[in-house]
Amino acid sequence: KLSGTTTIIVLGASGDLAKKKTYPALFGLYRNGFFPEGTSIIGYARTKLDQSKFHERISGYMKTPTDDIKNQLSEFLKQCTYVFGQYDKDEDYQKLNKAVEEVERCDKHQEKNRIFYMALPPSVFIPVAKGLKKNVYSAKGINRLIVEKPFGMDLDSSRELGKALAPLWKEEETYRIDHYLGKEMVKNLLIIRFANVVFGAIWNRQSIANVQITFKEKIGTEGRGGYFDEFGIIRDVMQNHLLQILSIVGMERPVSLSSEDIRDEKVRVLRCIPPVKLEDTLLGQYTKSEDGEKPGYLEDSTVPDGSTCPTFAACTLWINNERWEGVPFILKCGKALNEQKAEIRVQFQDLPGNVFKDSPRNELVIRVQPNEAVYMKMTSKLPGLSMDTVISELDLTYNRRFSDFKIPDAYEALILDVLKGDHSNFVRDDELDAAWKIFTPILHKIDHDKIVPQPYAYGSRGPASVEEFTSKYGFKRSTQEYNWPER
Ligand code: BG6
Repeated sequence: KLSGTTTIIVLGASGDLAKKKTYPALFGLYRNGFFPEGTSIIGYARTKLDQSKFHERISGYMKTPTDDIKNQLSEFLKQCTYVFGQYDKDEDYQKLNKAVEEVERCDKHQEKNRIFYMALPPSVFIPVAKGLKKNVYSAKGINRLIVEKPFGMDLDSSRELGKALAPLWKEEETYRIDHYLGKEMVKNLLIIRFANVVFGAIWNRQSIANVQITFKEKIGTEGRGGYFDEFGIIRDVMQNHLLQILSIVGMERPVSLSSEDIRDEKVRVLRCIPPVKLEDTLLGQYTKSEDGEKPGYLEDSTVPDGSTCPTFAACTLWINNERWEGVPFILKCGKALNEQKAEIRVQFQDLPGNVFKDSPRNELVIRVQPNEAVYMKMTSKLPGLSMDTVISELDLTYNRRFSDFKIPDAYEALILDVLKGDHSNFVRDDELDAAWKIFTPILHKIDHDKIVPQPYAYGSRGPASVEEFTSKYGFKRSTQEYNWPER
């Protein structure tokens, strides 16, 4: 726990991420009384803005449904100041340092803690990390640096970034954010797996046929085409968010719940995964919607002509260890699809024996978003006089079972972890390295050979061959009609 004065410095404060995620999360923490006493927030960016314009900008995404919350917001904004300056000029950082010292002076505490949140594009990570260390680092207190993804483009560039950062910021001062690790259901994975004896017993290749981890978004790149085209969907979502989920689904039980014990196990399972092969990959790129209303990826003016950048990808990964050998982990993600959803689907083996021959497979579904839920698809007797069966479910739907609880935003949960100094839900340097090793060869092949992605219409389920792809790895759709009763 931090004692003393705490200043949170948001770098890139005038940008999109700060406006949409960082400041609303900070406001959420403030409102719920999670800030240490004497906390101030200073924004820093290149754009010239006065305080009121800045306040207007950062409040754009904050919800204030009641007068009470409106008042809290104006109190919160009083603690948010703004300084503008360049990312590569010592004198500008010194100006920032003065502003930090000024707010610190108002507090009698001797310890001056500083949390730096880099809501910045990777091109300026290094100059900013340097400028901060040289000019704004607190000599009398704790310093922590939060870094946003992307952490590089591949294994080499990620290592280069790491090498440049390491002499400036120690690993224990660095918090690499993957905001999926802050999502309620992703945090619940560890508990579902290791606090329930039933799951512990069946979580292996003997019982599980395949695992699918899916991320779907309804919108396309809409205006973010420039950024997106450089990275593609594998770097944007799969190599980080989906692989992080996979590592928790696949890891062994940690020795304790300490952050290093958890991260040791995540790294260990990642190291058992060989690089993804081209034959285990399906790439797609969206075209105009069927009704012609929504534009295709290539029609986005921010996308370079003729780009072969994938906006959809399915990759099957294999974990070569005693628990998982032979079980396909199918990761799927895409933009401009038919729905917005992130979920983990664990499909169990066929039922052996002949009493209930051809029973559909059990499936455990962990719905990350929207509408958090855990449900197990199971076969049950159809009520009545016959012995007919029906697919039903054991269902824990959060908005029914936990209707009185507010699920915190991922960024809110993670920033609180930084304030507490808890690294469990952040990516360690060796974990990042292991993650890049899995995807770098396929990414290089895609970039180098300009592999042409399969087209799919905006708003569809993805390329036509998705079903064929998942069934190739043994995923079986039940022949009986089943729809989870989402409420
Ligand atoms: C970001 C990606 O990391 O995650 C975006 O860069 C994506 O492309 C987003 O839309 C999804 O996050 P969430 O929390 O909305 O599922």
